Parts: sequence; C-alpha cells; structure tokens
Amino acid sequence: IYGPARKNSKGVNLNINSEYQPLVDRMAEFMDREYHAKPLLGVDIADDESQRQRVTSPYDRRQAVGSVQWATREQALQAVDIAWQAFPRWSETPVDERAAILERHADLMETHLAELMTLCSREGGKLLTDGVDEIREAVDFCRYYAARARELFAEPTVLPGPTGESNELMMSGKGVFAAISPWNFPVAIFTGQLVAAAVAGNSVLAKPAEQTSLVANRVIELLYEAGMPRDVVQLLPGDGPTVGSVLSSDPRITGVVFTGSTDTAQVINRALAARANAALPTLIAETGGMNAMIVDSTALPEQVVADVVHSAFQSAGQRCSALRVLYLQEDIADRVIEILRGAMEELRIGDPRDLGTDVGPVIDEEARKGLLAHVEKMQAEGRLLAEARLDPAQTDNGTFVAPMAFAIDGIESMQAEQFGPLLHIARYRADQLEEVIDAINAKGYGLTFGVHSRNENFTNHVASRIRVGNVYVNRDIIGAVVGVQPFGGQGFSGTGPKAGGPHYLLRFATEKTRTINT
Ligand code: NAD
Ligand code: ALA
Repeated sequence: IYGPARKNSKGVNLNINSEYQPLVDRMAEFMDREYHAKPLLGVDIADDESQRQRVTSPYDRRQAVGSVQWATREQALQAVDIAWQAFPRWSETPVDERAAILERHADLMETHLAELMTLCSREGGKLLTDGVDEIREAVDFCRYYAARARELFAEPTVLPGPTGESNELMMSGKGVFAAISPWNFPVAIFTGQLVAAAVAGNSVLAKPAEQTSLVANRVIELLYEAGMPRDVVQLLPGDGPTVGSVLSSDPRITGVVFTGSTDTAQVINRALAARANAALPTLIAETGGMNAMIVDSTALPEQVVADVVHSAFQSAGQRCSALRVLYLQEDIADRVIEILRGAMEELRIGDPRDLGTDVGPVIDEEARKGLLAHVEKMQAEGRLLAEARLDPAQTDNGTFVAPMAFAIDGIESMQAEQFGPLLHIARYRADQLEEVIDAINAKGYGLTFGVHSRNENFTNHVASRIRVGNVYVNRDIIGAVVGVQPFGGQGFSGTGPKAGGPHYLLRFATEKTRTINT
C-alpha cells in the first residue's frame, strides 16, 4: 500500500533529471499563483483585514506567495464548540467510511503533487527533491493509518470468559484533538497528525505553523474534496501563543498531538495540566533532538562522508532527525574531515526550485539570526573546521546559512538544538567509547542516532546501549519511511508512540470493555 520514497539505500535521490524534470514542467503553472488562506471552520467566517499576514518566500523575500488571515481567539473557541457538536456523529461513522476518506485524500494529494511541491518550495523553502519526499510521506500516512484503522476499529476484540458470559473490547475516538504542527514538514507532519486523530473517530482542530499556513490550507481543501466533513476537521491558522495556547488551555480539549520544539511541548504540557475541571488529557509530543553519530576506525571514510553530508545538510539541516554531533575515532578523524571539507566545498546553496541546488534557505530571519549567533561564537573560539560557500548573487535576498562544521570536545558543550546546517565534530579514543555513549545518553534527548563501523560487535554494542527512538547502522540518519521505520524519540525528544508505526492510532482511541451475561 505504502512504500519508500524513490531513493537508493543511502537516501540519495535517483535519476534526478529524468525523474524530476516532468514534475518541474508541471510546477510552472503554480510558480506565480497568489494563494490566500483563512480559518476553515464548520461555518463560514467573514474576511478580516486586521488579521491578514503577508507571505513571502524564504529564498527571496521580495517574492510574494500570498496572504493568510489568522484565526482569532473567539474563532478558536467557536471551533471547539463545532468540533464537539460533530463528534458523536463522526465517532459513530463506520471506520470503513472514515478510512476511505483518507484514501481519497491520498489520491488527491498525488494528483496535486506538482502544486503542493511548488507551495512547499515557495512558502517553506523546500528543495524539490524534499518536496517529493514530503508529499509522498503524507500520502503514505493516509494509506497506512487507513489500513491500521480498519484492523483496529472495525470489529471488537473477542475476549475469553466463563460459560454464560461474553466479553468484548471495543475502540472508539476520545473526543476533540488539537493537532499542532511545525513548519519543517508542512504537509507530511501536518497531515499525519490530523488524519490519525480523525480516522480514530475524533474531531480535529488543526493549527499549522505560522510560516506554512498556505500549504496547510490547500491540504485541507483537498481533504474536504475527499469527503471529510467540514465540522470534523477545522483549520485554525495563527500564531502559537494565541491560537495554540487557546486550544491547550481549553478544558474541552481531550488531547493534543504536537510536533515542534521541546520548549513548546513543555509549555503545552503545563497548560494542559493547569486546566480546572478538565478530564485528564492525552498529550502526544514529538520534539527536538541532539542527534549523534559514532564512527570507529574500521568505517569506510567515503561512505561516512556521504552519509554525514546527507544527514547534516539535507533540508538545510532543518529536520528533527538531522545529525548535530559527529564522533570520530582518532585514527580515522583526519581522513574523514579532509574528505568532508572537500565535499562541503562542492555544495551548491541557492534557489530550492533549481534541481542543481543542494541546500536551500532556512525558514526565516529569526532562524537565520539564531544560527548565525552560534556561528559567531564558534568562530570566535576558533572552532571552524569546514564550510560551504555562499554565492551572494544566489543568496542575498533570502535567509541562507552556509553549511559549516565545528570542532567540539563533546556533546556536553552543546547548549541547545541548532536547527540548521551546522555540524559539530568531536574526536574520541577507543578507550573512551563508553564515556561517549554515556555523554550522549546523559544529554537527555533521544531521537535519532547513527553508528558506522565494519565491526558487527561494535555496532551491536553501541546500538543496544544508546537510548534513542531510531538507530541507523552504516547509513544516514534521516528520512524515516512510514510503516518501515516508525519514527519518534524518548526523553526530551518525545512521548511516543511512533508516527507511522503500528501503535500510533491507539493513543487517539479509548477502549471500552463490554461484558454480557448471556
Ligand atoms: P515550535 O515549537 O516553535 O512550533 C511548533 C508549533 O507550535 C507551531 O504550530 C507553533 O505555532 C506552535 N506553538 C508555539 N507556541 C505555542 C504555545 N504556547 N502553545 C501552543 N502552540 C504553540 O517548533 P518549530 O520551530 O515550528 O519546529 C522546529 C522544531 O520542531 C525543532 O525543535 C524540531 O526538532 C522539532 N520537530 C520535531 C519532529 C519530531 O518528529 N520529533 C519533527 C519535526 C520537527
Ligand atoms: N521523519 C523525518 C525524518 O526521518 C523527520 O527525517
């Protein structure tokens, strides 16, 4: 039903020109289109100029994409009323019908691939290759969760009992979920969260990231076209501290499915806990990472560099799964750094709509400033090891950050997740391996991790000791595939259950046991 994106085993996109060129041709139609988004509620709402925000492209802030009308606090509260009115009818809708809507939505997203990719690129600064993977992942989520929902919700589970008694376990939706998503997967994560909540029988209030409301709006329009009732899934574009926090502090919200930074997850957790007269909520949070890779002296330097470049700089390093700290065993470190330096010099940074671009912009000026503050500090300490070149002609009007690699002593010195194309490299001696693993575990994040070695005892030992959600051996550490590599972390990186995994839908459902005295 679902399948991996078209990549080879190392995540490298295949036949880039022949495969992508027809898509690029179809994208031309959407390159100059002006898009407008507004709250999509179960009832029509008026246009409101005072709430309108202009949207421009991260690669060139002179280029307009359109505008978005943010939801007000009152509209968010109204949406909660509407969602509760819709809930009883929706939760009793046969799961087959709910799942069929997701499947039609998947088909529609495939039909509209060129348009959705163009918007991801224009609004979110995504490379075209990332855009294909992004839409494909959203399609996979729809088909995977539809199939899982049919398995889990169609029939009650028959349980044992004594003669004269029948026992059954039934699953149904819990109520109203807020789905709060980040800008870095504006279609895949946005869609995955809300379709999971909806197919399990809940009403959903979807709050996309401020930076990517236009593509979210287009996804919801397609979802309505696929048959999703407008009162079951509503869209609330707006800023987090207003719309997001109205939702997480409303006592009528049954649960929040959140993906974003660890700090915001903690704010939401506190808001949910502080509600008076509210039932105990469900919080599913997928958050940040401080992802490391350990490379021993038996690893193949060229393969290591290919996987490091992909893991650290693909999507301009704006993946929660991206590599932040690379540990190289002393004996191999100089060789790997030398090849890495050469590889980084070859990276082309620029317009993400150009098939030859390797690294696009970061999402906005605030992100760029934060990353450059870190760069300045590392350079002042004399830690720069390698960098890619920015061509001012290609990058001056956008929010670009050149990929860089810095020397550090160890992960202990990392203060915060640097969400961009910045890699940190530490060296270790063979007798320090256990200390290195302890330091990574002690950091408290636990999302992705990589190990490179030709010694199977080494990879088995490291992989079993490290406390993370996704371990990758002898490959890159990004690009988890739905149903193949269920994705999500532990500790500061998330609550689980894993997105795209067999247990995800269970957290959106409540269980009822029925015992009948026959
Ligand atoms: P963010 O935390 O700033 O924002 C995420 C969402 O939360 C946005 O929709 C935002 O509007 C909303 N929000 C902000 N303040 C809020 C509040 N007070 N109450 C309710 N909602 C609020 O994160 P971001 O910058 O959009 O995304 C980048 C972060 O997401 C990184 O830390 C990255 O590691 C993480 N991420 C994690 C995963 C994962 O699966 N673990 C996937 C993608 C991104
Ligand atoms: N699921 C995304 C990845 O694995 C975040 O890169």
